[in-house]
Parts: sequence; structure tokens; C-alpha cells
Amino acid sequence: MAEIILEAKSLRKEFGGLVAVDDVSLQVKSGSLHSIIGPNGAGKTTFFNLLSGNLRPTRGRLIYEGRDITNMPLYRRAHFGIGRSFQITNVFSNMSVFENVRLAAQAIDSRSMVMFTHYLRFTSYQIKALEAIETVGLSGMENVPAGALPHGDKRKLELAIILATDPKLLLLDEPTAGMATEQVPEIIATIDNVRKVGDKTVMLVEHNMSVVMSISDTITVMNHGALLAEGTPEEIAGNTAVQSAYLGELYGDFEDMSSSIGR
Ligand SMILES: Nc1ncnc2c1ncn2[C@@H]1O[C@H](COP(=O)(O)OP(=O)(O)O)[C@@H](O)[C@H]1O
Ligand SMILES: [Mg+2]
Repeated sequence: MAEIILEAKSLRKEFGGLVAVDDVSLQVKSGSLHSIIGPNGAGKTTFFNLLSGNLRPTRGRLIYEGRDITNMPLYRRAHFGIGRSFQITNVFSNMSVFENVRLAAQAIDSRSMVMFTHYLRFTSYQIKALEAIETVGLSGMENVPAGALPHGDKRKLELAIILATDPKLLLLDEPTAGMATEQVPEIIATIDNVRKVGDKTVMLVEHNMSVVMSISDTITVMNHGALLAEGTPEEIAGNTAVQSAYLGELYGDFEDMSSSIGR
């Protein structure tokens, strides 16, 4: 049986009277690509915020690599290997691609205060940055100011920034948001490459159903904060509750979605 890297146990988040995440339990297998889908407002981003430590749950537990991290602050989770991206582009526009990524590699290192006295450590950040840039396919763009990148390349840069922090588990919230349709396959191939090259676990929130169906090992469907269904792409595509409850109306032609299965 595959190792479980992350387990949520009845994780719940209330905002005042609103239940944004309604006692969600799930297990994420190490090395898998696990997608969370659901309509707008289903609680996907809130759930990611609970996993990353941006938000504390109202109740429930979170276990990462066998350790209870429910009350662990964000920066410590990051040190333990939980890296997340945001729906909002999060780069320094005036800095080069390389500087953005190197800074991330350096920032995660708690010993970075002594970095400037230690040439070898400095070099290791540079190497890590260059590796991350290569993995996402931005080699050759190192000196380009981040602000001058086309939108699709900015998303790749965001991926490189997370990668440079050497995460074991990547939380990617709508990495294709705002991208032109023709750019989507490239970013998806990049995510697939990140996972395979680096042997990472990836959790993905994504609204593009053909992407989700083609790339995921496991899909969890959320609706009104609660877990509606979970399974392989085949199982989710064939799940009548999912179909009738929401996929059909939200994503249009269900046949179209099913036809994109088949990796
Ligand atoms: N900080 C917050 N304060 C109050 N309500 C919030 C907050 N963040 C999200 N919500 C609400 O929680 C619900 C889930 O939102 P969200 O997690 O962003 O959904 P999704 O990412 O699936 O679209 C929505 O009703 C949203 O308005
Ligand atoms: Mg969201």
C-alpha cells in the first residue's frame, strides 16, 4: 500500500456562521497527483489554506508524514516540505527570473543569516535556483525581469519559486488561471515534469476538467464545503452523484470530459 504523506481528519473551517470546509477527511498518497475540484465557493482555496497553515481549522486534525501539524505555523510547515502557490501572482517584477528563484531558495533556509559569510551555501542556492528554472522550462530566461515575462511564463516562474524551496508536497491553486487555452497543455506538462523529475506529491485545484481528468491519480470533489466524492478520474467521471449534483451543469458536456480520460 502506498505511503500516506498527508491526512486530513474531519477538517473544518467556519467563517462566522458560514461553514467553508465541512468536516473534510482525506488521505493523499505520497508521489501522487491529487486534485480537488468543485464549483466556485466550494471551499477549495480555504481547504488549501488549512493545509498550508495560512488558516487554522475550527476543528479537525492534520497529519503530515505521521506528524500532527494542526497547530504548526506556516513557516515551519514550509520547512517540513509543504510548498504552496497562490491564485494571485506572487513575484517581484523588477527582479530577474534568477533572482526571484534564488531568493526563494535562500528564504527557506533558516540559517540564511550567515549565508553571506559562507560561499558554499550561497552557491548551493544558486544551483538549486538553476535546477528549478530548468525543471519548469525557463532555462535561457534567467536574466529577464519577471515583470517582462508573458503570463504563461510567469506561472512557470511561480512553480520554480515553489520548487526552489525544495517541497515534498506542492499545493497548486489554479495554476492555469488566466492562461490562454493554448498555453494550458504546456503548464500541465511542466507540472507533470515537476512531479516526475523531483519525485514530488502534488495537490492541485483546477477548474479545467480536461486537465484534471488527464493528469490526476485521485480526484476529490468538494461541494458546499463538504466532500462529495473521491476516486480515480474514471470513477469520478462515472459517478452519477457527481454528474447530477454538479459536473454536468458546471462543466457542460459530460461526454467531452469523459473523452479526455486516457493517459
Ligand atoms: N476569509 C474569509 N472570510 C469569510 N468568508 C470566506 C473567507 N474565505 C473564503 N470565504 C468563503 O468561504 C467559502 C469558500 O470559499 P473558497 O475556499 O474561496 O472557495 P473556492 O476556492 O472553492 O472557490 C465561500 O463562501 C467564501 O465566500
Ligand atoms: Mg479558490
